[in-house]
Amino acid sequence: MADIRNDFVGIKSPNPFWLASAPPTDKAYNVERAYKAGWGGVVWKTLGEEGPPVVNVNGPRYGAIWGADRRLLGLNNIELITDRQLQLNLQEIKQVKKNWPDRALVASIMVPCVEESWKAILPAVEETECDGIELNFGCPHGMSERGMGSAVGQVPEYIEMVARWCKQYTRMPVIVKLTPNITDIRYPARAAKKGGADAVSLINTISSITSVNLDTFSPEPSIDGKGSHGGYCGPAVKPIALNMVAEIARDPQTAGLPISGIGGVTTWRDAAEFLALGAGNVQVCTAAMTYGFKVVQEMISGLSNWMDEKGHRSLSDIVGRATPNVTDWQYLNLNYVAKAHIDQDLCIKCGRCHIACEDTSHQAITAMVNGVRHFEVMEDECVGCNLCVNVCPVEGCITMVPLEVGALDQRTGKTVSPDYANWTTHPNNPMARQAAE
Ligand SMILES: Cc1cc2nc3c(=O)[nH]c(=O)nc-3n(C[C@H](O)[C@H](O)[C@H](O)COP(=O)(O)O)c2cc1C
Ligand code: SF4
Ligand code: SF4
Repeated sequence: MADIRNDFVGIKSPNPFWLASAPPTDKAYNVERAYKAGWGGVVWKTLGEEGPPVVNVNGPRYGAIWGADRRLLGLNNIELITDRQLQLNLQEIKQVKKNWPDRALVASIMVPCVEESWKAILPAVEETECDGIELNFGCPHGMSERGMGSAVGQVPEYIEMVARWCKQYTRMPVIVKLTPNITDIRYPARAAKKGGADAVSLINTISSITSVNLDTFSPEPSIDGKGSHGGYCGPAVKPIALNMVAEIARDPQTAGLPISGIGGVTTWRDAAEFLALGAGNVQVCTAAMTYGFKVVQEMISGLSNWMDEKGHRSLSDIVGRATPNVTDWQYLNLNYVAKAHIDQDLCIKCGRCHIACEDTSHQAITAMVNGVRHFEVMEDECVGCNLCVNVCPVEGCITMVPLEVGALDQRTGKTVSPDYANWTTHPNNPMARQAAE
């Protein structure tokens, strides 16, 4: 049986599934039920400074986009950090940690970007005996207008400075939560490392407007006829998060910096992908908000079963396994050739592949053969782009089949070379020609 116990910067949990800082982790009542359901850890809903808490809007705070089956694909929110008193949260954190010593409990913090504010809150959080802190430099709405959240996360110098204060004023592990609302994620990650952070977590939410009401012309969610950008999360953001995790994992300047992967994790498979790209564990918010705490049970059993099936004994067998396979475009093998193949037994003759290839790709799929509807790939036209695979409604009906070395590519008239050759040495590359001259 695979061992899925997790050790993230010394914080131990029975599995790598943590709830991210958000409504599922905003009070003891929720966190205790989440632990009962099986979550390995939680990052408590972000704490703010002592004093009157922030106030949330009293109307809708969520917007969404859905697939055709009404499955939620992307969630947008305009919620702020915790709107409960700091002392109440701290008391509950302390009690919950005492009740559940084997689970991870990390406190998320967001206070003004001044040393005194961090110096004041850290001992109070440390006193709860929670396992670590996560610095929320990510929220893109509301708090950022007050100089916190992503307003800090967008300035690497601030990240480094605050991480350094935290390392100075607490013995707890420091995780820096990064905002994706930035051009190149490597810079804030490098800053976190430079400031002495033990790890980074990402992504927080992406600035977004999910829809506009075309009767009132108000962005949604609408508060008295007005809307404001919110933070986007859920399955739709997973590809963005995976790329950012991989960018940090393969950056020589942050190599080895532990990463907690967040963004659209809904199934065990999503989690395994984050781990493979270099995340040491994962955090989940939208999936729990959509399906409830028990969604973790599928994640735990799915990951364990897959690991057993593949012979992976522990998480360290998986973490970072895909990282060396992430490369820059210029290093992709231009001698690799694949062609689409349609399984005629599975094909329902809907014609979507033909239309897509005919109108927007390479006119490589038939529609009629001998007067009957028949969809077949013409290998002498197919460039192997994979568009038809992605638009076909029948899973597995169209597959990409690599041509073997020595086989004839009917489109180019060349045989497939056994050699690896990329753009850096390609004769059409002006830079390559320059280098050769
Ligand atoms: C309603 C809501 C409130 C959130 N509040 C916080 C917060 O207080 N602190 C924080 O660091 N992240 C917050 N987040 C972001 C999540 O922790 C997480 O980074 C993001 O939702 C991406 O993960 P997901 O795709 O699994 O939802 C919030 C997200 C949602 C949906
Ligand atoms: S892989 Fe691209 S070019 Fe080939 S048949 Fe499919 S859509 Fe057309
Ligand atoms: S899209 Fe798929 S099912 Fe539809 S015609 Fe093409 S191969 Fe057949």
